[in-house]
Formats: sequence, C-alpha cells, structure tokens
Amino acid sequence: MKRLHRPLLWSCTTLLLCLGAPAQAADADAAKLYRDKGCIPCHGAAGRTPLNENYPIIAGQPAGYLYNQMRDIKSGERNSVLSPVMTTLMGGVADDDMRLIAAWLAAQ
Ligand code: HEC
Repeated sequence: MKRLHRPLLWSCTTLLLCLGAPAQAADADAAKLYRDKGCIPCHGAAGRTPLNENYPIIAGQPAGYLYNQMRDIKSGERNSVLSPVMTTLMGGVADDDMRLIAAWLAAQ
C-alpha cells in the first residue's frame, strides 16, 4: 500500500510547489478585491448568482473578455441601459485590479 501512495503524494507536493503557491496568492488577492470593491451584491459571491435576471453571470467567461467589458463600462464606451449602475463603482478599480479580478472570475 505504501508504494502506491508515494507517487501520488509526490505529484501533489510537486504541483503545489510549482503551481499552487503563486496562483493561490493571486487568487486570494483577486477574491479580496472582488469583495472589497463591492461586486458581490450585484454579481454574487463568485460571479454566478446575480442580483436579478437582467444582471450578467460573470464567472467562467474568458479573462480577456471580462477585462475589456470592465474597462469599457468604466470609460463609458459600453453604455447600455444597465451599464451606468456599474460605472461609478468602476472609477475606484485600477487597471491592474481589473486584470486580476478578470483572471480570477474566468476560473470560477
Ligand atoms: C450596482 C450593481 C453592480 C455592481 C456593484 C457591479 N456590477 Fe458589474 N455589472 C452590473 C450590470 C447591471 C452589468 C451589465 C451592464 C451592461 O449590460 O452594460 C454588469 C456587467 C459586468 C461585466 C460584463 C459582463 C458581461 O458578460 O459582459 C463585468 C465583467 C462586471 N460587471 C464585473 C464587475 C466587477 C468586477 C464589479 C466590482 C468591481 C462589478 N461588476 C460591480 C452591475 C453591477
């Protein structure tokens, strides 16, 4: 039995060392930003449970798309009937923070 478990343990450890630590740090930062910047009331804890049916589910979409939408909503370039509810809030979200949040949301 011991022999069977060892390779599994080793690969988990390697994976954690190589990928886990930096990815987890970025994820924790992004999750905190998403919470602290006030996104949860409208989009839900992980971007999957919007406040109402007219608000988009933002989890699981490509990071590049999510970033572009945030940038365009912030600048006013995207301006549907619904965009203005988010525009003011985006004024307080820096470009780097949008990128972090977008990458995190894409993985939710
Ligand atoms: C007051 C409610 C509200 C808050 C707070 C809010 N949003 Fe939004 N968000 C919306 C609405 C409504 C839309 C749809 C806007 C449109 O159709 O133009 C939207 C659209 C988006 C989109 C584009 C989704 C798509 O599929 O095109 C992204 C990405 C997004 N929000 C991220 C965020 C992030 C990140 C935060 C926090 C920094 C946030 N939102 C805060 C209401 C909100």
